[in-house]
Amino acid sequence: MPLRLSVIGTGYLGATHAACMAELGFEVIGVDVDESKVAILSSGRVPFYEPGLDEVLARNIQAGRLRFTTSFADAGAFADVHFICVGTPQQAGAQRADMSQVLGSIDALAPHLADDALVVGKSTVPVGTAASLADRLSSAGAGAEVAWNPEFLREGFAVEDTLRPDRLVVGVRSQRAEDLLREVYAPLLDIGTPFLVTDFATAELVKVAANSFLATKISFINAMAEVCEAAGADVTQLAQAIGYDPRIGNRFLAAGLGFGGGCLPKDIRAFMARAGELGAEEALTFLREVDQVNLRRRAHTVDLARKALDGSFAGRQVAVLGAAFKPNSDDVRDSPALDVAVAIQNAGARVVVHDPKALDNAARVYPNLDYQPEAMAALAGADLVLHATEWAHYRELDPVAVAAVARGRHVIDARNTLDPAAWRAAGWTYRALGRPNA
Ligand SMILES: NC(=O)c1ccc[n+]([C@@H]2O[C@H](COP(=O)([O-])OP(=O)(O)OC[C@H]3O[C@@H](n4cnc5c(N)ncnc54)[C@H](O)[C@@H]3O)[C@@H](O)[C@H]2O)c1
Repeated sequence: MPLRLSVIGTGYLGATHAACMAELGFEVIGVDVDESKVAILSSGRVPFYEPGLDEVLARNIQAGRLRFTTSFADAGAFADVHFICVGTPQQAGAQRADMSQVLGSIDALAPHLADDALVVGKSTVPVGTAASLADRLSSAGAGAEVAWNPEFLREGFAVEDTLRPDRLVVGVRSQRAEDLLREVYAPLLDIGTPFLVTDFATAELVKVAANSFLATKISFINAMAEVCEAAGADVTQLAQAIGYDPRIGNRFLAAGLGFGGGCLPKDIRAFMARAGELGAEEALTFLREVDQVNLRRRAHTVDLARKALDGSFAGRQVAVLGAAFKPNSDDVRDSPALDVAVAIQNAGARVVVHDPKALDNAARVYPNLDYQPEAMAALAGADLVLHATEWAHYRELDPVAVAAVARGRHVIDARNTLDPAAWRAAGWTYRALGRPNA
């Protein structure tokens, strides 16, 4: 009998994982406590924007391999392997992770688990979680075993990353758990995906270490941007030049408004908090600086905009291009673009925000900003244009056409992806982060 899988928590990670495991040929049941999400997914639609996921989801529902429910009893009765994909956001008023979704899902699942079931954590968690969940399950009388299999997918590339991952990491305590995970991922092992078997703690740490490294790389180049601004140098050329060294590499070396989203910021903070609990706080003090550099870029962008408008936002109109935390996503969690938009509005400007996909999510979080679904309508009457999320569409904007509808001629390229020469030629004052501002 082929293995049957459940996916507990069907947000960005879980919906993708469920659909992709069905695509690999497994029968999959997705479980969520959010009834409306379950209803949307059951109807074959994805409740968020992720390129290519709609087709995979619809195809597998139609083929009868994939369904969604709110019933943990159904999942327990159906599946041999249960993937935990619930959220681990930052705890309110603290740096550490809020583990209530993880504990809630384990407690709801425990009474329904078969004794030979395998519970596989995919959520990003503080080191030590897998061991404590194993204890929790056995105290609840469940015979099921635990494994940890951190997820590295990137929003915007989630389907590709799940079906063709860079690597698979599994933290296990038994050969049986390893064998079950090898069976689940057999199609990916067949295409040569590296498969690393570790203990629980190492698997948990791999994920936060990877995110800390990526955050550090971004903040490194943004720190260089600060120095470039002070020295009159160009950080985009600097990044290109150092990136040719293969030990450094040019990926994730784009200076700009910095990182946001539902992962990097909360993951580095939770990692620092956990290291502190373990007595290893000093090892990660550099991450505090990484976080600070990142947040400073947002404040600096607001300053740059204020300076361009002669020191005051009062009575001015600012068009913010982008609301999602990154392109090809509608995720606005800890979005640098929205953070900057709100700060500028609070300082007295009327702010009009455009985004190709994220306006509904943005309006739910910040109902008081103005939103325009058409880019040119958002730009109409603007005294200043702020490029905040690097959607490809914004690179294709014609600066002459924008000048025809805007009121002012100030553009701030907070992502360093517009063409300065083209904007300047069309009469704009182009300013960017980490570059000489003419
Ligand atoms: N989004 C990403 O790109 C990504 C990538 C790698 C790892 N991760 C990690 O994956 C985890 C999930 O992230 P996400 O972005 O999918 O979050 P999300 O908030 O989009 O999804 C979480 C889902 O869990 C559901 N849920 C909450 N409590 C539940 C419970 N008790 N039982 C069942 N379902 C419950 C929520 O309704 C929601 O649908 C996090 O730990 C995150 O750090 C996310």
